[in-house]
Amino acid sequence: MRAFVVIFVLGLASVAARAEVTYAKEVSRILAARCQQCHRPGDIGPMAFMNYGDAFNYAPDIKRVIEEGIMPPWKPSESHGKFKGAFALKPEEKLDLLAWIENGTPFGDEADLPPAPEDKGVWILGEPDLTVKMPMAYTPARGKDVYRCFVLPTGIDADRFVSAIDIVPGNRKIVHHVIVYLDPTGDSERLDAKDEEPGYDCYGGPGFEIGVSNLESLLLNGYTLGGWAPGARPEHLPTGIGMKLGKTARVVMQIHYYTGGRSGEDQTSVGIYFNKEKVEKQLYFVPVVQTRLNIPAGDPAHVVTASFSIFPGLEMKVINVFPHMHLLGTKIEVEKSFRGDKERMILIDKWDFNWQGAYTFEEPVKMPALSQLSLRCTFDNSVNNPKNPSNPLKNVKWGEGTEDEMCLAFVGVVFDRF
Ligand code: HEC
Repeated sequence: MRAFVVIFVLGLASVAARAEVTYAKEVSRILAARCQQCHRPGDIGPMAFMNYGDAFNYAPDIKRVIEEGIMPPWKPSESHGKFKGAFALKPEEKLDLLAWIENGTPFGDEADLPPAPEDKGVWILGEPDLTVKMPMAYTPARGKDVYRCFVLPTGIDADRFVSAIDIVPGNRKIVHHVIVYLDPTGDSERLDAKDEEPGYDCYGGPGFEIGVSNLESLLLNGYTLGGWAPGARPEHLPTGIGMKLGKTARVVMQIHYYTGGRSGEDQTSVGIYFNKEKVEKQLYFVPVVQTRLNIPAGDPAHVVTASFSIFPGLEMKVINVFPHMHLLGTKIEVEKSFRGDKERMILIDKWDFNWQGAYTFEEPVKMPALSQLSLRCTFDNSVNNPKNPSNPLKNVKWGEGTEDEMCLAFVGVVFDRF
């Protein structure tokens, strides 16, 4: 009974406190922490939320998008793993924003405003050790989504280890997301040579085969250096862990341009940070994947699964995870199981191809011998899926194209024994 009274009184106190939520005190800080990384002048958000006037003008839209959970676009569900750099609204921040709008958007006291944010410069982690940039500017066609791969030679003369990358978009208004692949053979250059424009079209992958079907090459040469979506902050890998960048590897950057009515030139750069400390462990990207898929035309909830058992000797820790499907995907989940216990690692239950990225666990997930990683993808191949690219509907199989599908999660792992 006493516990109940205490909770009740605390509840009243927080409602009373919320009646006083002001722009100057709370709202300005929430917008700065959760929205401005995208909603600032020249960045990807369609409007800026930099001052009281902005927040006041868009209050009804802010209410709608946060009630519906559309913004901020942080995709992993709270019910599963905890990730570094998460930018979801905390429950109390959401309540503060809604209370502020409900109470007529009071400004409050100027003295409560936070200090102006410090300018961190373009590279949040400091000047990169190596910057590779698109050799020429590219102007994507206006009014549609363009997925284009660019080949960036590194010029390094020895294999190196990489602890972080960051992307500086040449044109933030149109660069929606970037995935950085590695090409050890030069196939990407042959693809690039096929048309006169810089780069080549690519969609569900880099367009050349070092992917999931060639595990040996994948592990030896690496596959990716990670992904980037606006609003995400770059992070170094844990100390002593690095991704291999072979001296002959080309960095292949896939950019999704999201041009709407506004196109323009872009010349994006990748900043590469080498490990400064001794590298004890290489980060390997291991695919948990189901390539044998056949999603029947009309099926609104087709489930595809895959799993992967850890053999004795291959005990590992999962550092990050990179879930991947195309346009029919609605839900993707990765789970660990060990001796009957299950651990939910990641769930994205409103999958959106345009907000994909790599997620780094706050605490690496240990995978002992005989534990299992399993992946479950759900697809909607019905007419009710507004993103369905096929009209008329068709059965859909594995492939890299827009109308093909994938059910894949790369897990970035370090092995205990090597
Ligand atoms: C990671 C980048 C990012 C963050 C963080 C972000 N937004 Fe957005 N926001 C966008 C983009 C991009 C759009 C354009 C529509 C889309 O792509 O979904 C958008 C659209 C919007 C819209 C207009 C959409 C509509 O349906 O009217 C509102 C309002 C909005 N955001 C509010 C917010 C608020 C409030 C926050 C913080 C609590 C926030 N956003 C955080 C990127 C972001």
